[in-house]
Amino acid sequence: MWWKEAVIYQVYPRSFQDTNGDGVADVEGVRRRLPYLKSLGVDAIWLSPFYKSPMKDFGYDLADYCDVDPIFGTLQDFDRLLEEAHALGLRVLVDLVPNHTSSEHPWFLESRASRNSPKRDWYIWKDPAPDGGPPNNWQSFFGGPAWTLDEATGQYYLHQFLPEQPDLNWRNPEVREALYEVMRFWLRRGVDGFRVDVLWLLAEDLLFKDEPGNPDWRPGMWDRGRHLHIFTEDQPETYAYVREMRQVLDEFSEPGRERVMVGEIYLPYPQLLRYYQAGCHLPFNFHLIFRGLPDWRPENLARIVEEYESLLTRWDWPNWVLGNHDQPRLASRLGEAQARVGAMLLFTLRGTPTWYYGDEIGMKNGEIPPEKVQDPAALRQKDRLGEHQLPPGRDPERTPMQWDDTPFAGFSTVEPWLPVNPDYKTRNVAAQENDPRSMLHLVRRLIALRKDPDLLYGAYRTYRAREGVYAYLRGEGWLVAINLTEKEKALELPRGGRVVLTTHLDREERVGERLLLRPDEGVVVRLD
Ligand code: NOJ
Repeated sequence: MWWKEAVIYQVYPRSFQDTNGDGVADVEGVRRRLPYLKSLGVDAIWLSPFYKSPMKDFGYDLADYCDVDPIFGTLQDFDRLLEEAHALGLRVLVDLVPNHTSSEHPWFLESRASRNSPKRDWYIWKDPAPDGGPPNNWQSFFGGPAWTLDEATGQYYLHQFLPEQPDLNWRNPEVREALYEVMRFWLRRGVDGFRVDVLWLLAEDLLFKDEPGNPDWRPGMWDRGRHLHIFTEDQPETYAYVREMRQVLDEFSEPGRERVMVGEIYLPYPQLLRYYQAGCHLPFNFHLIFRGLPDWRPENLARIVEEYESLLTRWDWPNWVLGNHDQPRLASRLGEAQARVGAMLLFTLRGTPTWYYGDEIGMKNGEIPPEKVQDPAALRQKDRLGEHQLPPGRDPERTPMQWDDTPFAGFSTVEPWLPVNPDYKTRNVAAQENDPRSMLHLVRRLIALRKDPDLLYGAYRTYRAREGVYAYLRGEGWLVAINLTEKEKALELPRGGRVVLTTHLDREERVGERLLLRPDEGVVVRLD
């Protein structure tokens, strides 16, 4: 199935390529860069939201599910992108944001108009607590209560994110049907599937009770962490909704042309894996990001992989990811040398990898001066905590793609919406194309290597996970060994073979039963 063999590449549409000189990238920019994506070898692109939006959360606040925001272009631009992508053999996944709309969406305007509005129940409205405050203690992801009072009608509405992102009421079948129609709208246009935003947050418990305190919370940690989210996350109803979404996808699926659902779900494995049973093709496995990157040791990585592998049934297809538009950049977390090692890991594990734009050239977190901060999550913290405590937010991983060393990195002809990382002079696609040992070439080689059926589908077995070296076997004849340290390491192999790829891109040679790994080196060995 195509999605099992695919590498998914995430494009953050504001930051990929500007073509109309407004400093914000656009849909046409993605189309113009399709040859680049094709040359990288990826199979599918996932576009974060490009829909009509007041941009309070940069597109994750939708005012129209079925149109393109003028800042990004037009529906015709999208159709053209889709057609050309398909002609090149690239699939296109779009973002579906079912949990909430913008407060400017006509549905919400109608809902908030009066308590008797026919759409009142499309969102989640509650009377104030007896003291006039919010109905319960639920906290939003971006800080502060998850409830805002609508003065005119005297009730609070729920928003798990910004007050400008009211939560839809998924228990209402009309809401569900409206969202399924949105899916059909894009499926009819030809999209190959969806990345579904905050899939595990769709339902809330019906009793709206306070959530219990989190004993591990300490002052200074984010508000949302104050409580254990037993009433706002991963509620049983969600599985039924996922199943219904899957049915919509299946209406449009044909052999070889399955339409897929990739779900954004931040949960421990046992809970995460239930989303497979519900019908989600690829519930995002973020465990390398959350547990792997902060503790980059072989023992830990092997544990993360083994736990997952042992819990998956034979119908569940694994997936892995090391970065996205909400997480600090891979190369900033691991450093340049280990970022290459991380890439080798991601592309040689069993399962579909998702790759974040720019990580293939080792883009690093941008430095955003306080007056240029855009991310609402960071700004809200600033309002609440004061300037001196401004957290970095998510802007650093959203800076413009670095294409070349011309002004603004070939991204735009004007000052972009977020500053270009000053390292663009040397770190850019053009420079790395010309350097046969660059990370760009490494990623390209890894993606090509991954097409081998044994690497795609062969079983995973840990071979060694200690003293800085993580090595595993894939299928019948592959061994991957990564050195997570800055020291030279030796590894006894089960038998001789051939080094077919090294993260240093400087050797392809026979090896006997003893493999020497240089500092920060990962190798893929084809065993005899
Ligand atoms: C998850 C998205 O990835 C993030 O960027 C967004 O802010 C929230 N969902 C709200 O939609």
